[in-house]
Amino acid sequence: MSPPDAPSPLAQPLPWNLVADAYVDEVMPHFERYAEEALRTVGVAAGQRVVDVATGPGTLALLAARRGARVDALDFSDEMIARLRARAAAAGVAIDATTGDGMALPYPDATFDAGFSMFGLFVFADRDRGFRELRRVLVPGGRAVVTSWPPFARSPALSTMMSAVRARLPGLQAGSADAPLGDAATFTAEMTAAGFRDVAVREVEHTRRYADADDFWSSMSRTLPPLVMLARKLGDGWPTVAAGLQADLRAALGDGPLDVPMPAWLGVGTA
Ligand SMILES: C[S@@+](CC[C@H](N)C(=O)[O-])C[C@H]1O[C@@H](n2cnc3c(N)ncnc32)[C@H](O)[C@@H]1O
Repeated sequence: MSPPDAPSPLAQPLPWNLVADAYVDEVMPHFERYAEEALRTVGVAAGQRVVDVATGPGTLALLAARRGARVDALDFSDEMIARLRARAAAAGVAIDATTGDGMALPYPDATFDAGFSMFGLFVFADRDRGFRELRRVLVPGGRAVVTSWPPFARSPALSTMMSAVRARLPGLQAGSADAPLGDAATFTAEMTAAGFRDVAVREVEHTRRYADADDFWSSMSRTLPPLVMLARKLGDGWPTVAAGLQADLRAALGDGPLDVPMPAWLGVGTA
């Protein structure tokens, strides 16, 4: 069973619907690097059946389809699925895309050769169900790749930003301090408990470059769902808070280009 964390505010479609456009423009190009690594890890090849759970705008799904895989993709955000369909049409690739819940997959048992949930399953309200569903739809011997983030403290720029938010809004309910699937031991234990064998979790790091601290802040405020939800909650009060946060970050992070390393956990298991 998953530990009894407070459900993440990201376990609902609204924040993902709100960030969909900015996600495609600014986040997806960076996340494609993790998706490429996941596809390489499993060795996805032409003709294989692949499922991408919590696909977002089809970050991994499109790359898999370009390799000739037969791809199904699912997300509970209809805005994300709309972006995926548009991208697949523009690229001239066929992907069977569905709006649905990753904890109740609409596929028969033993359907896919490989399954992925890149930075998706880790926010599910019930991760154990998410893992079990992913295993259920794989053929025996099929492989799954799931990714998550370590705690923000591992990334100085992100941690500086979260500290600045907490300092300006001390009453803010910031959710659980623990990152879900935030360490390799927990990740391995949960994936194994859901029935996967030969589970291996390793760190993968890609660095994202921002022009400067202002660029970092403006991109985060458009693409990071908790910030977008905060802006929505504060309404007319947000521009003042946002300007203060931007100044805090400029003071803390300095001038000039900013390289933000983004380490992730990549877990692989066999059904
Ligand atoms: C950080 S995005 C990752 C998207 C994509 N996999 C990628 O690597 O770019 C997380 C995605 O998980 C989806 N998601 C979260 N919980 C979900 C659930 N229970 N069922 C389906 N999708 C879910 C969100 O809608 C969002 O598109």
